[in-house]
Amino acid sequence: VITGSTRLYAIIGDPITHVRTPMSFNAYFAEHGIDAVCMPFHIGGADLKRGWEGLNALLNLDGFIVTAPHKQEAARLCDTLVDDGRHVGIVNTVRREPDGSYCGTLLDGRGFVAGLRSKGHDPAGARIYIAGAGGAGNALAFALAANAASAITIHNRTRSRAADLVERLGRAYPVTDVSLGTADASGHDIVVNATSLGLEPDDPFSFDLATVSPQALVAEVVMMPKMTPLLCAAQARGHRIHYGTLMLDGQLNEMMGFFGLRAAHSNSAAAIA
Ligand SMILES: NC(=O)c1ccc[n+]([C@@H]2O[C@H](COP(=O)([O-])OP(=O)(O)OC[C@H]3O[C@@H](n4cnc5c(N)ncnc54)[C@H](OP(=O)(O)O)[C@@H]3O)[C@@H](O)[C@H]2O)c1
Repeated sequence: VITGSTRLYAIIGDPITHVRTPMSFNAYFAEHGIDAVCMPFHIGGADLKRGWEGLNALLNLDGFIVTAPHKQEAARLCDTLVDDGRHVGIVNTVRREPDGSYCGTLLDGRGFVAGLRSKGHDPAGARIYIAGAGGAGNALAFALAANAASAITIHNRTRSRAADLVERLGRAYPVTDVSLGTADASGHDIVVNATSLGLEPDDPFSFDLATVSPQALVAEVVMMPKMTPLLCAAQARGHRIHYGTLMLDGQLNEMMGFFGLRAAHSNSAAAIA
């Protein structure tokens, strides 16, 4: 029941109709008896500054999730950035602090790691290949390095973006063997498509699947379709595969933790299954 004391959470984006956050948050709140509600706020692409001022006026709004195209500008509007939000300079989760300031972070990468672990794949000690050096590629790279991946190779269509990520990642995590890659993904335990290729059925693959070693796990960040052409082809070649949706599922618990709402004995994976 929504009462006068119910706390508000939101997801902001443009478009907004495709988002799953309200369903997963509200199911979590109901399951854990938390007096809060999450709503979708459609804020136009060019209107974030004005929208932010509106959010700022809502004193019972404790935080919000940020999706495309607002992740970069939201980082600029935050008062503080922490963890991967600070490393990457984009945010997807923003919390209002008791003093009214905004603290932003990026939980995509942590969600990916949690998703891997939920399926029994530990990134610690693994050699990981990431195709993509955009928001998702950056998020994955920093979270996998923070979770003790032994080596991370970055490949991207625009090579300068990959080189920039390699440089920043290597500086932040000097013990990780970080390198600039090509479309050849051989010699890795986990190979991830972190580009937007795969949304369309005719998209090419972001790397050469034929080079991937037979034991390697092939993973996606693309969520729709769940079974991307890459995952279909990888499965047909006998690889273990890992869905892009698991990255989002893995984030719920991280988001609740960031908002200070994580239940003591959370079984959030069940809540969003
Ligand atoms: N599962 C989740 O929870 C989750 C979370 C966040 C994002 N995602 C998904 O991750 C994907 C990427 O998002 P993003 O935020 O990283 O986007 P982004 O910052 O715009 O980056 C896009 C990436 O895709 C590459 N790319 C785009 N078109 C390409 C093409 N024709 N050929 C080769 N590479 C191409 C870009 O390469 P260039 O640098 O060369 O342009 C860049 O690496 C999207 O599908 C998004 O929905 C999923």
